[in-house]
Amino acid sequence: MTGNITFTIIKPCAVSHEYIGDILKMISAAGFSIAAMKYTKLSQIQGAYFYNVHKEKPFFEDLVEFMTSGPIVVAILEKENAVEDYRKLIGNTDPAKAEPGTIRKLFAESIQRNAVHGSDSDSNARKEADFFFSKSERFDRGGHFLELVPVEDV
Ligand code: CMP
Repeated sequence: MTGNITFTIIKPCAVSHEYIGDILKMISAAGFSIAAMKYTKLSQIQGAYFYNVHKEKPFFEDLVEFMTSGPIVVAILEKENAVEDYRKLIGNTDPAKAEPGTIRKLFAESIQRNAVHGSDSDSNARKEADFFFSKSERFDRGGHFLELVPVEDV
């Protein structure tokens, strides 16, 4: 079942602009089903841990400050080829370079305030999903607990 999930965050900028409904509608229309979802707010420690891969980048501190500045929506999305298809749906990290009709083109303000996060690999999708959701909080389309391949096989 490798490749059938991705992980997304609707970021504080998109939440504060009331874009949650519009973004979820686009996700659903693109064929993704929601396997898990919660409305939450990152602590400083969670934000720094989640974006640890960028800790040497000049924008790291600003990114963590922004991502902890307000509530977010986190979700696991299920679909075949989920990571790649979701990255197409959201568009380039920089909204100025994003294709017309993508989520970031429509709702992002800047490269940092870029409306949504999407996992960049199957392995990161799994790690990010595990960071926010326990096994008992993830469901397949049939309403059963979502079965995922063991982490070492992703
Ligand atoms: P995201 O998909 O959440 O993954 C890492 C985030 O870092 C990215 O979206 C942007 O919000 C942010 N980011 C990436 N590049 C830059 C940059 N050059 N300046 C500021 N923020 C950036």
